[in-house]
Amino acid sequence: MLNDRMQKELNEHINAEFWSAYLYLSMSVWFAGKNLHGFANWMYVQFQEEQAHALKLLKYVQDRGGSVELKPIAEVPAGWKSPSDAFLHTLHHEQKVTSLINALMGTAVELKDYATQNLLGWFINEQIEEEATATEIYRTLSDVESKPGILRMVDKEFKARAYMPE
Ligand SMILES: [Fe+2]
Ligand SMILES: [Fe+2]
Repeated sequence: MLNDRMQKELNEHINAEFWSAYLYLSMSVWFAGKNLHGFANWMYVQFQEEQAHALKLLKYVQDRGGSVELKPIAEVPAGWKSPSDAFLHTLHHEQKVTSLINALMGTAVELKDYATQNLLGWFINEQIEEEATATEIYRTLSDVESKPGILRMVDKEFKARAYMPE
């Protein structure tokens, strides 16, 4: 049985993951509007991944006999200065998500909730990758953004990203 405080915090994080999904869907729409369809695809895959994160937590709460609460998803930003600005926002957002997951782990440790610690271990590893990827793309874009030809090449490369369920 899931502790009440743990359940409440996991439910809040389900909402945070859906908010992340919504943020990346917004970025996908923004990139499509800029005629950068590879970037739009990359962000759409990110949207799908974040939905999967939310659903992974949701199923876990169910499996532990807890109750799932689906709260409203707050509004997300809709515009960025440039592609690199969108990826800098992505990086800062992922850093924030990492701190939220660390706080969840803190609660699970405090409550000696070993099953939740185990689940959160997966999310902690995922965040290492998320931050590394966002950093790499942000740095690349900062270098090539002023060169439209290279930006087009990156866009073409990003068309190939496909969502892979776990
Ligand atoms: Fe996530
Ligand atoms: Fe993420």
